[in-house]
Amino acid sequence: MKVAFFSAKKYEECVFKSAQQSGRIEYDFLEVRLTEQTAQLAKGYEAICCFVNDVLSEKVLTELHKIGIRLVALRCAGFNNVHLPTAKKLGIRVVRVPEYSPYAVAEHALALLMTLNRKTHRAHARVRELNFSLEGLVGFDLHGKTVGVIGTGKIGQVFAQIMKGFGCEILTYDPYPNEAVKKYATYVSLEEMFKRADVISLHCPLTENTRHMIGKDAFEMMKPNVVIINTGRGALIDTKEMVEALKVHRIGGACLDVYEEEEGIFFTDQSNEGIQDDMLARLTTFPNVVLTSHQAFLTNEALRNIADTTTNNIVCVAENRSCPNEI
Ligand code: NAI
Repeated sequence: MKVAFFSAKKYEECVFKSAQQSGRIEYDFLEVRLTEQTAQLAKGYEAICCFVNDVLSEKVLTELHKIGIRLVALRCAGFNNVHLPTAKKLGIRVVRVPEYSPYAVAEHALALLMTLNRKTHRAHARVRELNFSLEGLVGFDLHGKTVGVIGTGKIGQVFAQIMKGFGCEILTYDPYPNEAVKKYATYVSLEEMFKRADVISLHCPLTENTRHMIGKDAFEMMKPNVVIINTGRGALIDTKEMVEALKVHRIGGACLDVYEEEEGIFFTDQSNEGIQDDMLARLTTFPNVVLTSHQAFLTNEALRNIADTTTNNIVCVAENRSCPNEI
């Protein structure tokens, strides 16, 4: 099967070329992101392979269907960027990689938290300039602090266990509580978590129910030094309200791997153009914000699992078999 691979990065190409069953798929790696403007590049292919910021709107899917695309293979877990009713109506099958490494994402959430708290990014930059002053570098012990985890699925559970290992009290929120989690954490309401937690980490999917779940009301309930971690999806947080809260020191800081308007910016080098997005530009000015470009998944183990599972998914569909990872 010939597959147009959108938003291709060098670090993915070699892993996909050596994936299990890769001999049965012909991947053509295209650097461009899938959008209304680039959808025509899929002409002549039977399937496309996409990532988190490729656009699979009603219009794009309709265009893809016209030129013969019958399969969308997402090489990620989240599928909030796909207009599923349109895919279903057109008979385009959509497969994904539900799990590739919950450790990769949870460990990145921890890396962001430790960086922001102990200010290692600032200390490193200072020492390289031969500035050995400690002014402004005071952090806090995580031991004994209360950590809130929103969403206790695969990633949330790993993060909660890591924080338990630091000696933290763990509060969790999930509409579907998990019995195993109750052994080391306490399920509470969102309100109770907002009022009690020193750190809050988001690990739930982006849906109409969770969009902007962290907004003005939530910030007003939180402790003034709370640190928010978002490795989920950008729009879980109302960014405008977060910037306001940061400006008036209503919250202690934010660790962000995702941003609600990241499409077209993240994964690209903007160093020559500068940032057009004013909200993102403002976020980069706060000393108590650490921002990474949606890289929480980026480990060797996760890339290998993504490549193997995506390729197996495509082979499954090519052989007209049912695929366990179909949405
Ligand atoms: P999962 O499906 O295992 O767990 C999600 C959990 O969220 C479930 O327990 C579900 O019941 C819960 N949930 C659903 N609605 C909720 C709500 N309204 N409030 C609180 N919890 C709710 O998913 P997994 O693998 O743990 O991934 C979580 C999210 O992390 C994904 O949806 C994706 O958006 C994001 N992600 C980010 C990555 C990155 O590189 N930054 C990589 C992989 C995933």
